[in-house]
Amino acid sequence: MDGTNHSVVSEFVFLGLSNSWEKKLVLFVFFSMFYVASLMGNSLLMLTVNSDPHLHSPMYFLLANLSFIDLGVSSVASPKMIYDLFRKRKVISFSGCIAQIFFIHVIGGAEMVLLIAMAFDRYVAICKPLHYLTIMSPQICISFLLSAWTIGLIHSVVQLAFVVNLPFCGPNVLDSFYCDLPRFIKLDCTDIYWLEFMVMANSGFISVGSFFILIISYIVIIVTVQKHSSAGLSKALSSLLAHITVVVLFFGPFIFFYAWPSSSTHVDKFLAIFDAVLTPFLNPILYTLRNQEMKVAMWRACRQLVSYRKISEIVSRLFYF
Ligand SMILES: *[C@@H]1O[C@H](CO)[C@@H](O)[C@H](O)[C@H]1NC(C)=O
Repeated sequence: MDGTNHSVVSEFVFLGLSNSWEKKLVLFVFFSMFYVASLMGNSLLMLTVNSDPHLHSPMYFLLANLSFIDLGVSSVASPKMIYDLFRKRKVISFSGCIAQIFFIHVIGGAEMVLLIAMAFDRYVAICKPLHYLTIMSPQICISFLLSAWTIGLIHSVVQLAFVVNLPFCGPNVLDSFYCDLPRFIKLDCTDIYWLEFMVMANSGFISVGSFFILIISYIVIIVTVQKHSSAGLSKALSSLLAHITVVVLFFGPFIFFYAWPSSSTHVDKFLAIFDAVLTPFLNPILYTLRNQEMKVAMWRACRQLVSYRKISEIVSRLFYF
């Protein structure tokens, strides 16, 4: 890596998802709808939590932060993917590609840590309800958030440090619609096996590790509740159901990419769509569906938004006419 045979590849070409015009149209409608819906759903959730004093509790603040991360998740790859659908040559610059990898890993790492923090929050709420507010103090919440973003950042920088100086001498075609390490690293022309292994191990370790921490904490919660009362169990289960669904949806594709990196291309392309488009859309829905308090608050926030608009309309009419 002394710069002699340095990258001659200055851009990458995506193969995209489909060549048929009808399929492209269907995908375009589908992706745009889910993208807009997830922007709206997550923004509404953040707005509701921050504007409603009833929802000023650690659980909802963590949830609002998850929505903030989801805005990032859905915006890293989807807008470019939607924009690229009807383009003949879907290119991305070398630095654009590195930037996508960087943000995917910062956001992915932060989301994993935040999900663990949310599981811990549920553990305290269900198993130690009397100490909930002292344990989940604002300081603890803030330090969870700081560590989520710090761990995401460190994870991402470490990953990129390995690959950013690799020589790329072609080919430059990625059979995908966004840049991520498993495909990217196969294109470098050194073929250093351990490097590929290190990168996959890093991402694989963090995703499989967090997944197991989460599963173990849900098991601990369920076992603890079951010992105390069986009536409490169904209540705890119903409040955990959203968490478990989100965790499985979010981690499934990740573990698949990194644990079986050489798997069949079509499956992982479509799983990637899942993480890029569907999970960020489903999160706010899954967490509000079974939560009466949240539903009522969202409804109130919606009504307020509408009436603000009406008021501002009236004011602007008065002003102009
Ligand atoms: C994230 O959580 C913190 C504190 O727990 C809160 O002050 C902040 O508003 C939350 N962020 C968002 C985007 O809701």
